[in-house]
Amino acid sequence: MPDTLFINATIATVSGALIRDGALAVSGGKISTIGPMKDLESETEAKTVLDCAGRLLTPALIDCHTHLVFAGERTNEFDMRLQGASYKDIAKAGGGILSTVKATREAELDELTYLAMERAKTLMAEGVGVIEIKSGYGLDFDNEIKCLRASAQVGIGLPVRVLKTFLGAHALPPEFKGNSSGYLDLLINDLLPAITKDNLADAVDAYQEEIAFSAGEVSRLFEAAKKHGLPVKLHADQLSDTNGAATAAKFGALSADHLEYANQAGIKAMAKAGTVAVLLPGAFYFLKETQKPPIEMFRKLKVPIAVATDCNPGTSPALSLRLMMNMACTLFGLTPDEALQGVTINAAKALGLDQELGSLEVGKTASIALWDTDNPAALCYWLGGNLLEALYLDGQPVIASA
Ligand code: NIG
Ligand code: FE
Repeated sequence: MPDTLFINATIATVSGALIRDGALAVSGGKISTIGPMKDLESETEAKTVLDCAGRLLTPALIDCHTHLVFAGERTNEFDMRLQGASYKDIAKAGGGILSTVKATREAELDELTYLAMERAKTLMAEGVGVIEIKSGYGLDFDNEIKCLRASAQVGIGLPVRVLKTFLGAHALPPEFKGNSSGYLDLLINDLLPAITKDNLADAVDAYQEEIAFSAGEVSRLFEAAKKHGLPVKLHADQLSDTNGAATAAKFGALSADHLEYANQAGIKAMAKAGTVAVLLPGAFYFLKETQKPPIEMFRKLKVPIAVATDCNPGTSPALSLRLMMNMACTLFGLTPDEALQGVTINAAKALGLDQELGSLEVGKTASIALWDTDNPAALCYWLGGNLLEALYLDGQPVIASA
């Protein structure tokens, strides 16, 4: 007998058509049956039966790009930008990422964990069941390790699944000013081996940009990551075209993220490499960017599109993945279906989890959100509001219906 049976549900499987009057059974944390109720007449019993009364089931949402571990905030820079300063100007003047690095270095592991956990809880309250969390505000040996440990703690303290990404190559720390190759030595010779030994990262990320690292520097880091068996992802072509999409594709990256300025050759290479395009409309909006990512080209070349919050204190202080779905539609022209795929199956792909999560199919992990609507487009339509009825992760209720 199944552990849980959802009946009378509208089911957005994401992998196939919408099922009306559907049922979904969970056994041992996995989806054991799914389909229209009329086809499943034998499946009427379970330890727990939940009548959804027509409401919507989707896969639990996946936020595949966040920087949840940081201390402090940057409201001062928000003010400066409202008065006309650019993100690049602020970064070049020593603000930006480096001001968060200062606050993060001063914070203890417990404090960073607490801060990140509160942010993770806010995401979960909107149906998020998997969160990728990057380091990148430590930028020295001890502090990068501290940030990765804080991410791990979030996954231990909460039922949410956390994927830890090592983003040591986020900015050049002040100690290495003018010596990026010395900093890369530290990342490659000291940090990568220590991180691999203690299993502190699931992937390696870098920021390829004029104000950060060059394609050559990123390649050096990615070659080392590959030697340690770690998959890579890249902050690519966010503020300018530095051939980031091509760098990502060259290393078979799981994803290339941002991509506002990506060029056609790079996107073709991504298509060939199976690299997911992760769109971050929160950063686009918050920076008042006007260059949109080349959505039509992604569609034409069949590059899978994901959507994430990029939650960070500098460019996207965003704690609502549903709001990002809305912005992906209103600002970038995604359809609500594409936006839902972007925070489920394609987000799973961007994390290498798509065999196990991201759609409702027999055999997949039963991480499921129940919503107070019967229409998947409502998830993109409402700005705010509490649409989540219940959240099941690995078959267990972690947020239960009232
Ligand atoms: O994803 N682009 C680089 N990293 C972040 C911004 C980090 C910051 O400004 O603190 C991003 O947008
Ligand atoms: Fe980011």
